[in-house]
Amino acid sequence: MRRILFLHGPNLNLLGEREPEIYGHLTLQQVNEKIAAFAAKCKIEPLFFQSNHEGQIIDFIHTHRREAVGMVINAGAFTHYSYALRDALESVQLPVAEVHLSDIHRRETFRQISVIRDVCLAQISGLGAESYCRGLEVVLGFLGRKELQQAINETANADEAYRACVKILKRDFPKYNWVGIYLVEGNELVVHNYIGAPTPHTRIPIGQGICGAAVAEEETIIVADVNADPRYLACSLETKSEIVVPIQGRRIYGEIDIDSHTPNAFHEHDQNMLENMAKDLAEFLDAAE
Ligand code: DQA
Repeated sequence: MRRILFLHGPNLNLLGEREPEIYGHLTLQQVNEKIAAFAAKCKIEPLFFQSNHEGQIIDFIHTHRREAVGMVINAGAFTHYSYALRDALESVQLPVAEVHLSDIHRRETFRQISVIRDVCLAQISGLGAESYCRGLEVVLGFLGRKELQQAINETANADEAYRACVKILKRDFPKYNWVGIYLVEGNELVVHNYIGAPTPHTRIPIGQGICGAAVAEEETIIVADVNADPRYLACSLETKSEIVVPIQGRRIYGEIDIDSHTPNAFHEHDQNMLENMAKDLAEFLDAAE
């Protein structure tokens, strides 16, 4: 199983009793249990570490740099001034997500500065323990994109590239309950391959439904609550939210369509990752045409 490091910096050992109005009521162990449950669904083995000492955190990163595929770090106050930690993160070449329990941008000005931000893929703050799960998704998105790029490099076949994309996304994101690719054929979108419950919508006219709208408007559409969107073509009562990302190079080849049983499941980092993957597919398809 792929291993990801979860690091907690100084004073986070006191979670539960430390300013609960800011950091919440969960203890560090309870936070780690939540992360472990989520990581298990993503088929990730988490390795946890907390220290109040800068050098120990850096040593831990060095020791585990080769066995891990990524890292999620809440560096605590080290975030705001530790250049040594920043250098360590930069040295080891692992994809890293910076996370915080509290919203550091709505607190004292010194907390709004992060010296590690630009060596991390993203900064996620203010969501309590959920920040770590989103951080894991950011790291998985980076790794998934690399895997897709490798699959694209190893094949000359567009079908294989589409299948690799669907497979990677369905495997790594438990909240993605239905993942599929639709391809443009004339005035219609035709389902190419998907993983999830069978869909009655194998052909969708461009302009119809959320799928058809994304191609007609040439942009990503995120629908936080499908039942509140009149465009939604119902195919499953369980679907609560949806994201559709056009695969657009010199022309629109198709789209990546994802449904979730969780309301409001799709966030900025989902959109970034999916748009990057769609771009990789489109570049490959442009070159093949
Ligand atoms: C923190 C925010 C930091 O400013 C603070 O020093 C912490 C915790 C957070 O999780 O909100 O120790 O990283």
